[in-house]
Amino acid sequence: MRLVGLIGNKLPQNLYCLLAMIFCRQFCFYSKVFQKTFCKTFYWERVNVAIAFDACISTVTSKFCRGVELFDDKGNRYLDFVAGIATNCLGHASPILVDALTKQANKLWHVSNSYQTELQKTLAEKWTSVTFADVVFFTNSGTEAIEACLKTARKYHFEKGKPEKIDIIGFDGAFHGRSYGGINAAANPNYLHGFGPALPGFKQCKFGDLDALKAMIDEKTAGIILEPIQGEGGCRAATDEYLKGIRELCDANDILLIYDEVQSGAGRSGKLFAHEWSGVTPDIMAAAKGIGGGFPMGACLATEKAAVGMVKGVHGSTFGGGVWRNHQA
Ligand SMILES: Cc1ncc(COP(=O)(O)O)c(C=O)c1O
Repeated sequence: MRLVGLIGNKLPQNLYCLLAMIFCRQFCFYSKVFQKTFCKTFYWERVNVAIAFDACISTVTSKFCRGVELFDDKGNRYLDFVAGIATNCLGHASPILVDALTKQANKLWHVSNSYQTELQKTLAEKWTSVTFADVVFFTNSGTEAIEACLKTARKYHFEKGKPEKIDIIGFDGAFHGRSYGGINAAANPNYLHGFGPALPGFKQCKFGDLDALKAMIDEKTAGIILEPIQGEGGCRAATDEYLKGIRELCDANDILLIYDEVQSGAGRSGKLFAHEWSGVTPDIMAAAKGIGGGFPMGACLATEKAAVGMVKGVHGSTFGGGVWRNHQA
């Protein structure tokens, strides 16, 4: 489905746009916010609604943005439901963010991850104090955070003398970014198509079916990766029982549980991360999008135990930072 940009100023057109948005699985999050927040107060005649779907080029040329509004090069004004695809959680040009980034740009921009910076340390300490994680590795994007998660899981088993444990089980409806690791972990045929054979070491299970997962686990299973609330899969939330069941399977079989909270995290479910509703924590987690408020960044968070193999030199990124151990190097 491809709906793009300017829908017009008239009520029927905006309604059409709104309905499309409500039924579009990609933007269920937005429709919910819309229903709760805007339905009663929308001033239809004056507000356009901007919709850009994944992988489609919008006809809107954004020129200027403030808060929830976007203005194009022709002076049209839009209500921006896309919000940078779940990133601009403080709105466009948030004064807090602009101020923080401006101050930082004048102070210290980039020094490579051969050095630790005060900010990396502070941020890593903050993340570890409010999550299950003991260590953090900062990345530039969600995809890179996913890559770090997958590598962490495999390296853990390697370090434990079980290099044969390499299989990652993902689920139908999942999305984990567009790298080779990401598309193979999600195993969506649309994204795998045309890029050669699927990589070995990835399996796909039916989302929500604990028995199927149990049957799929064997001595080669290294990790299980899932979004506690699937975004691309249609705003499908894993039940608490399902998450608990997966955790038990992981514990019983020495499998690392990886949560992809790139889309469901950063407060979008009402908690900092969606899994907090269930009380079931992962061993490794990818975060991105909203954690930067529109500024590109991601993070791979892990327990000390899970990150045992990710020592200095094993993984890195020029711009991403390098704070595996938040109190050292
Ligand atoms: C659940 C999930 N994981 C990973 C990604 C990839 O993140 P990024 O686009 O920042 O690389 C996305 C992006 O939409 C996502 O929704």
